[in-house]
Amino acid sequence: MNKRETWKTKVGLILAAAGNAVGLGNILRFPSKVALYGGGAFMLPYFIALFLMGLPLMIIEWVIGRYAGRYGHGSMTGILGLFFKHASWARILGSVGVAIPVCICMYYIYIESWTLGFAFLSVLQKLPQPVISTDAHEAAKPYIDFFRNYTSPSATAYLFLILTLCINWFILQRGVVKGIEITAKIGMPLLILFGIFLSFLCLSAKNWTGFEGLKFIYNLNFSGITDPKIWVEAAGQIFFTLSLGMGAIATYASYVRQREDIVKAGFITAGINEFVEVIIGASIVIPAAFAMFSAIAIPELAKEGTFRIGFMTMPAIFMSFPVGWFISFVWFSLLFLAALTSSLALIQPLVALFEDEMKWSHTKAVTVSMILITVGAHFSAFIPHFIDELDFWSGCVFLLLFGLVEIVVFVWIFGINNFYNELTTYTKIRLPKAFVYTVAFVSPLFIAFVVYFWVIKELKNTLFTTDPYKIFARVFILLILVLLGFIAVKSRKIILKDVRYLRVIKE
Ligand code: PHE
Repeated sequence: MNKRETWKTKVGLILAAAGNAVGLGNILRFPSKVALYGGGAFMLPYFIALFLMGLPLMIIEWVIGRYAGRYGHGSMTGILGLFFKHASWARILGSVGVAIPVCICMYYIYIESWTLGFAFLSVLQKLPQPVISTDAHEAAKPYIDFFRNYTSPSATAYLFLILTLCINWFILQRGVVKGIEITAKIGMPLLILFGIFLSFLCLSAKNWTGFEGLKFIYNLNFSGITDPKIWVEAAGQIFFTLSLGMGAIATYASYVRQREDIVKAGFITAGINEFVEVIIGASIVIPAAFAMFSAIAIPELAKEGTFRIGFMTMPAIFMSFPVGWFISFVWFSLLFLAALTSSLALIQPLVALFEDEMKWSHTKAVTVSMILITVGAHFSAFIPHFIDELDFWSGCVFLLLFGLVEIVVFVWIFGINNFYNELTTYTKIRLPKAFVYTVAFVSPLFIAFVVYFWVIKELKNTLFTTDPYKIFARVFILLILVLLGFIAVKSRKIILKDVRYLRVIKE
């Protein structure tokens, strides 16, 4: 039986978990959404969703991760199985929680490779020369063409994709402690440093005009409170940014020592993530755009899409600063560090599945995981609409539904008292029982509301398609689900013979 690794240091554990949560979601997705939904009008539902849904779910995933790690499970397949005597249906349902991060990673890692490529191109001074203009579109035009060319995909893009895959492969092969933990220990402080530097630069731009951007975000107001779409987007952002609803946090939590204070770890993870989102994330993209273009341009720019801002508008702005290539390099390095520590977290559940459930060696588990991700990343690079389709299904629909499953199983079926016992063991922070009731009743209601408005409404518009590329992407997702479901059932026999499982039965 393989001995499972545990995080070596407390700092390492916290930084790894923060690295998991802090990603492109904080630096790119968050400002785009805020801009699109009216700044302060978005922030109120955002904070409410954070407290009613984000924090409770974060704590659940930590509690359950530590609990499952005790019995040798780190993937949702094994974790869900654990609660139902490893019945096949439970393990199959759990494997949806592995399919989600796998599918997200298949496009996330491709976007990650753009950030690495653009960081290099900045240093080599290969980015287009800036056109100084107060018209955002005119200023961005050379960068739009450049980006389109790059992602067509060009040979350079392909080279960096392969390089990014190799970097992820290498780190994961080194394991949880020597790979992920060390990367986070180096990457996270650097990321925060770069983030603070860029925040200062953007806020102070054009005689502190950038500050207006921050005011736009924090002009909290009630004007969005009756718009379901804003609620839905705010809740979606909370799920995405905190890495919730797919077991990615639970997988990391399964590698803690049994006496680890997971409540504290959960709050710190959420705290760091929110710092990088609502302080640093809020102080770069929007203030920079405010300083360089007019306030009217902001929602216009956001409509261009989450990633366009990062790869077209921002370089256009940064390249017009003195030593633009250097600032652009810092920007793309910041994005790369954020993305790297998240892509590792997106692959680890699959590695854990192979190691814990199939009892494969670490090398075999990592190799097979990376081959799968590599195939998917190629589809993301070469098949049109593949990224959007995967993002819609795995980054949105399944995520919400699986969040609900998590609450039902881990709180209701496990039992409020059992959950409360786990929650209050080895922790200095004794959360009141009211917290568990919030988790049990308010959070699912909140998610159900979101599912109703988002999924039901969006689904109608999206479900029917004749686009062969979209159909291909859907068949692909289905195949991933079938493959993981098959593994869930096949590995069941191995688990039933595991001594740790026999211990569960005795208990
Ligand atoms: N939270 C990450 C971000 O903000 C995305 C992510 C989701 C990472 C799930 C890991 C797991 O970009």
